Amino acid sequence: MKELLDSVCNGRSEVLVVRGEPGIGKTTLLDQAVERASGFQVARATGVESEMELPYAGLHQLCRPMLDRLALLPAPQQEAASSAFGLAGGRSPDRFLVGLAVLSLLSEASEQAPVLCVIDDAQWLDRASAQVLAFVARRLLAERVGLLFATRERNEDLQRLPELLVEGLADADARALLASVLLLPLDEGVRERIVAEAHGNPLALVEWSDFLSPAELAGGFGLPALRAVSGRLEDGFRRRLADLPVATQRFVTVAAAEPTGDPALVSRAAAKLGAGEANGSPAVEAGLVELWPKVSFRHPLVRSVAYRLASIDDRRAVHRALAEATDPDTDPDHRAWHRALAAPGPDEEVAAELERSAVRARARGGLAAAASLLERSAALTPRSAGSGPSPPQRPTLRLVRSSRPSPCLPPPRPDRSTSSAAPLSNSSEGIPRPLTVTFGTRRISSSARRNGSSGSTCCSRVTPTSTPSARR
Ligand SMILES: Nc1ncnc2c1ncn2[C@@H]1O[C@H](COP(=O)(O)OP(=O)(O)OP(=O)(O)O)[C@@H](O)[C@H]1O
Ligand SMILES: [Mg+2]
Repeated sequence: MKELLDSVCNGRSEVLVVRGEPGIGKTTLLDQAVERASGFQVARATGVESEMELPYAGLHQLCRPMLDRLALLPAPQQEAASSAFGLAGGRSPDRFLVGLAVLSLLSEASEQAPVLCVIDDAQWLDRASAQVLAFVARRLLAERVGLLFATRERNEDLQRLPELLVEGLADADARALLASVLLLPLDEGVRERIVAEAHGNPLALVEWSDFLSPAELAGGFGLPALRAVSGRLEDGFRRRLADLPVATQRFVTVAAAEPTGDPALVSRAAAKLGAGEANGSPAVEAGLVELWPKVSFRHPLVRSVAYRLASIDDRRAVHRALAEATDPDTDPDHRAWHRALAAPGPDEEVAAELERSAVRARARGGLAAAASLLERSAALTPRSAGSGPSPPQRPTLRLVRSSRPSPCLPPPRPDRSTSSAAPLSNSSEGIPRPLTVTFGTRRISSSARRNGSSGSTCCSRVTPTSTPSARR
């Protein structure tokens, strides 16, 4: 970017197409170029999916700040540009003349100061604008003009222009980014899984921490499925998934529902649903999933979209198959979790199994995971109707839920600019409405807090108590 700006300053026009997958950091790079472009006149445009059918919509955005120079152009160019931008009626403008008009406008503007044109989301530029801009890019010579595009996909019109392919962050940088946005301590295994699955995609790293609850982050349980995520990214993935054969979609749902990414487990479970391993291949070919050495998704949003594409009944069937395929001796906790998600209603046996998992999670130091398991256990415990017999009591574990509806969810996020790089704190002062989990005679309060200005977070406090209370 620096070279490009220097070159333009020195009187040589430059063009660069920055290409990369969603969330890889293209807009961030463009913004940095704009920040560095002191002394430049900056013109910006962004391709908008809903405007793709509107000829010259993108070009109009870009040229708007220069339109006062239209009168300086030769008459045919003036007419063509006026017509293209809806400033005058008339016939559909000659594209060649529109291109010359844009060249003239840029050239005029660059006499005053170097010009940087930044066109983001070029994959959604209307065709007429893309063609004219490609024409302009090929003819820029000694004008002090820089053209910077960002696009997710190869664009037919821009394909012969110089390109910068943006790839993911190196693992060390990915870990650093993840650490900078985490609000709770994260156990090593979960952190590595997130880093591996993100493939260095900064958005993926940022979104993981945004859309997983502390319980999921702490214990590796749960799914990134039911939270709102960036709609525009989702739409693309949804379309690609929906195009896959039905059995492949089922295979992908199984993979999405299984957080460990164990290929053998996913294949066993998928086979129980008539979608054995071979059905995964179309998803691999579509670039959505990788099956080896671990089943992982090209982008975390693919996982959440795949999961949500399935109906509730299908998801239950998938979790049932995963529970059956999970070894009860070596991985009882994930089995219990899948059984819980497969249960259509209260189920005392499943609730008790979850409680046992919570005890194990607690023993491993996974307080938030324990809280998450207990919450689910409480939800699955049948309620005693009227004067009928109450469900069995399990005195080792008791959950006293506060008025807060979801125990492990932190309070609303403060401004990201103050929280993202904030250090973690162990302070336990001022925790708002904490969840209290009682293990025998010890009470564990788990909560997340951010203190307005510093954005610091705290969790996990252990205090002795003898309060007897029922799990529910
Ligand atoms: N090098 C980086 N280091 C840290 N964070 C980054 C980096 N690059 C991007 N990000 C962050 O990642 C997120 C996604 O980046 P950005 O919006 O630039 O992606 P994009 O490639 O433009 O995605 P899209 O195709 O959806 O427009 C943003 O929150 C941004 O702040
Ligand atoms: Mg972008």
